Amino acid sequence: MPFFVKGLAFYWFLLVYYTCCLTILFILQPSTHYKEITMLPVSTPLIEIDCPGLPLLSRGKVRANFGIPGDDSRMLMVASDRISAFDVGMEDPIPGKGAILTKLSLFWFELLADVKNHLVTADVDRYPEACRPYAEQLRGRSMLVRKLQPLPVEFIVRGYISGSFWKAYCKAPLLKDFQGSYKLVLGHRLPADLKESEKLPTPIFTPSTKAAPGMHDENISFKQMAILLEDWIKSKSKGAKPCPDISLLSISIEKFVLRCYQRAADYALTKGIIIADTKLELALDECCNLVIIDEAFTPDSSRFWPLATYAPGRSQESYDKQFLRDYLEGLFKAGLWDKKAPAPKLPEDIIEKTRQRYEEALRLLTS
Ligand SMILES: Nc1ncnc2c1ncn2[C@@H]1O[C@H](COP(=O)(O)OP(=O)(O)O)[C@@H](O)[C@H]1O
Ligand SMILES: [Mg+2]
Repeated sequence: MPFFVKGLAFYWFLLVYYTCCLTILFILQPSTHYKEITMLPVSTPLIEIDCPGLPLLSRGKVRANFGIPGDDSRMLMVASDRISAFDVGMEDPIPGKGAILTKLSLFWFELLADVKNHLVTADVDRYPEACRPYAEQLRGRSMLVRKLQPLPVEFIVRGYISGSFWKAYCKAPLLKDFQGSYKLVLGHRLPADLKESEKLPTPIFTPSTKAAPGMHDENISFKQMAILLEDWIKSKSKGAKPCPDISLLSISIEKFVLRCYQRAADYALTKGIIIADTKLELALDECCNLVIIDEAFTPDSSRFWPLATYAPGRSQESYDKQFLRDYLEGLFKAGLWDKKAPAPKLPEDIIEKTRQRYEEALRLLTS
């Protein structure tokens, strides 16, 4: 065979070989394709999380909780990009919000490492086998946590006067005794001349009820909280001996949340952020220790104000959903929304500005 024919046959062989390889790769494509579907870019907003192989335990305003088959002590908590204001869930999500909230909670859990919290791991690769099919959806926005019974109260600490407490303060009558004028708000004796957003003489603990979906939380006094907790714990312990110092529980809770707030607020101040107030959710573990559950010191659970522009006597610019609240308040005042579901459609710039504020809070606090 002439030399050039042999060469041609060799090239012909190469062509067939590569064609076969490409065909095989094409046939194997489904797995690559599957990856493309599940590896959604982080900016794709997540409204509803579905993990069909895991039992859905509950869906809150922001998070969905899933059970772990065969393990009743833990659960998977996934933060969506949904946002709520005035206890109404908005139809439009804030892209990336779920991941920001998760990162911030993890950050605080680490910073307050000596305070008990519910986190088991946020490393998706260490999640139980049953969670694996949803790994890419869960990455960055979920936590495997201890499944505990949340105490039926929202534990709020206020370092500055704002929001519903400011409204209650304004309505409270002026009182006088031998020490001078003062106002009494939910059992707290406060100076008579506080301005809106002013720093309180010392942070105060103002618990509230945990309202059912669609209802509003209501501020309660320390005494009302103590009764509520005691009744709840007794009903849950079903005749078994409840925690030994149940009568001291409310006092321990007050000290616990005030300490957590002070530490977080002191740290945030070094980063140029005032944590004006915060809400913590707590549970008791099997040894009756207080454990922080849900989220901690995020823009959803706290009012974050920039230190640089802070001035008492007015409402503040903020890194939290106050911006969205102000927009909605404007609609309410204009008679365009009644603060009830369904929520109004949010304009693009409100969504984007809200997203930027959440992102800025994360960047400042964790840098
Ligand atoms: N470790 C935990 N064990 C049991 N329930 C928890 C735990 N952490 C959070 N939760 C509950 O999961 C829900 C989280 O959903 P979320 O959207 O944050 O709801 P909410 O709007 O009520 O705060 C809350 O009801 C919270 O009480
Ligand atoms: Mg919550």
